[in-house]
Amino acid sequence: MNPGKSIDPRSFAIDDRLTGVSRIVGVSGSKGGVGRSVVSSTLALALADQGKRVGLFDLDFTSPSDHVVLGVRRGFPDEEFGIDPHVVHGIHMVSVAFFTGDTAVPLRGDAATSTLLELLAITRWGDLDVLVLDMPPGLGDTNLDVIQLLPRLELLLVGNGSRVVIDSVRRALDLFTELHVPTIGLLENMHRGNERAVELLAVAAGVPFLGSIPYDQDLEDALGDVDRLRSSAVYSALENVLPA
Ligand SMILES: Nc1ncnc2c1ncn2[C@@H]1O[C@H](COP(=O)(O)OP(=O)(O)OP(=O)(O)O)[C@@H](O)[C@H]1O
Ligand SMILES: [Mg+2]
Repeated sequence: MNPGKSIDPRSFAIDDRLTGVSRIVGVSGSKGGVGRSVVSSTLALALADQGKRVGLFDLDFTSPSDHVVLGVRRGFPDEEFGIDPHVVHGIHMVSVAFFTGDTAVPLRGDAATSTLLELLAITRWGDLDVLVLDMPPGLGDTNLDVIQLLPRLELLLVGNGSRVVIDSVRRALDLFTELHVPTIGLLENMHRGNERAVELLAVAAGVPFLGSIPYDQDLEDALGDVDRLRSSAVYSALENVLPA
């Protein structure tokens, strides 16, 4: 052990808390606003509808969104020897929004790391087939902490055909390869016309291309209403996206 390096004792509890979880899938992709929260939440819903035991952990502590996508308004989770995720639409769900309500949560580096450690160390996920992690944008504290703390992490990357997004996702893919984080593949969101930039990026990077979710102009009205989400183009595109 490096005597100069301090280790947060909470990190020792994390493996135990996740022993019943078969797969940990982080929905990532670097650039903001590409649809990670919509994809994470809808993927969790589709998997739960298929009878899978699924968890959803919103890791965007400063700007959580999954409760908005799924129309969930809940208070503090029950706690006894840890906290129990709320079970909503069959999804075992944790979000800082359950603790903070509508209050803004500004977090600097150490506080973001501490929030992640705390929630990973106290949450009783139980037995799950898949735990979906909605990752925050960028390649900052939480993304790097998750990679470090969860060695079983697999990444599902989301991008779109915009050149600014392609450039950003390419850098992220390089980093994840360098850090040996397994990548399930790259999914295109908000597909329009004949765009192929995301598919070509996947091919160039040597990762599976997981298909395209069309731009859905009715999606805004479906947010917060799971029945409408279930009949959206996003839901159909995600039903079989996760290879066994
Ligand atoms: N396929 C789609 N068609 C139309 N609108 C979409 C689609 N996917 C996502 N959106 C919209 O794009 C916006 C951003 O989506 P979302 O919040 O899921 O992105 P994000 O990557 O999680 O963003 P952030 O970087 O803030 O975490 C939302 O308004 C969402 O409703
Ligand atoms: Mg998001």
